[in-house]
Amino acid sequence: MFSRAFQITTTALRTVSRKPSVIGTIRLMSTQYEHILTSRPNPSVALITLNRPKALNALSTPLFLELNKALFDADADQAVGAIVLTGSDKAFAAGADIKEMKDKEFSDVYKNNFLANWGELSRLRKPVIAAVSGYALGGGCELALMCDIILASPTAKFGQPEINLGVIPGGGGSQRLVHAIGKSRAMELVLTGRMVSAQEADQWGMISRVTDNVVEEAIKMATEISSKGQLAVQAGKEVVNAGYELTLAEGLRFERRTFHGLFATKDQKEGMAAFAEKRKAEFTHS
Ligand code: CAA
Repeated sequence: MFSRAFQITTTALRTVSRKPSVIGTIRLMSTQYEHILTSRPNPSVALITLNRPKALNALSTPLFLELNKALFDADADQAVGAIVLTGSDKAFAAGADIKEMKDKEFSDVYKNNFLANWGELSRLRKPVIAAVSGYALGGGCELALMCDIILASPTAKFGQPEINLGVIPGGGGSQRLVHAIGKSRAMELVLTGRMVSAQEADQWGMISRVTDNVVEEAIKMATEISSKGQLAVQAGKEVVNAGYELTLAEGLRFERRTFHGLFATKDQKEGMAAFAEKRKAEFTHS
């Protein structure tokens, strides 16, 4: 049932105690899960890999329960500064598990608030970077949209094909797409089910950028984020996300108050002193 054993390289053991390097110093593949893999490419980055290759990482309920547990464990780990979420070369995730859903009745999905637990990802305080290759369809596209930053490889294909199944997006796609790419393009994706390439998604501003070696790039970015003061990182995530929900005036007030609040931290004193003294800041996340 548990698909991977611990893999600890000798280089890993030699380099664990050093400052986080970009990639590959420690590679602990978790044996704890059936549908995902968890590892620490370096001590400050949690890497979560969806791992149902035969079903193109279809997001079944058991997979999502494991994913939420791994995400919240990483969020609670003081050593982790950012999280990378990825799938396989062929599929980030091809959507909610259609075979699991096909016989469900309204009374069942309504009573049990089917998919409600998907939104838990947006309660995480640490940044999550989606590294997308291959299909990111339906719930897979929605999962990427729930992350804070999306990097895509040239093979990535995004889409909301639920319309072909007689339904509509149920994991937030219709709402997050409107914010990300505007009404007309969101409407086109939701109503036609058409897939868009990584390049088109990039042009539309749906993702940060297209890059080869997407997982490596995401880990590099996560490592860089982890090297900043974590209080400021959390605050930055909170204020950008507030922009989704608040009016401009409310958002500006919230940003200003949060900015003021950071003057109560040691990291603000250290960051500004380091600049004035022309040295690298040593943040203590306090
Ligand atoms: N659910 C369950 N199983 C899935 C799946 C899904 N979303 N997507 C793929 N699979 C399974 C296939 O059934 C197949 O399994 P078997 O080998 O047992 O037959 C296996 O994965 C490989 O898939 P294909 O043979 O279809 O692979 P392909 O390369 O020919 O096609 C694809 C790839 C275009 C992605 C195609 O699999 C596909 O269209 N998948 C469904 C995409 C979709 O409709 N997603 C939306 C789901 S609904 C949703 O997500 C609701 C929501 O908003 C939350």
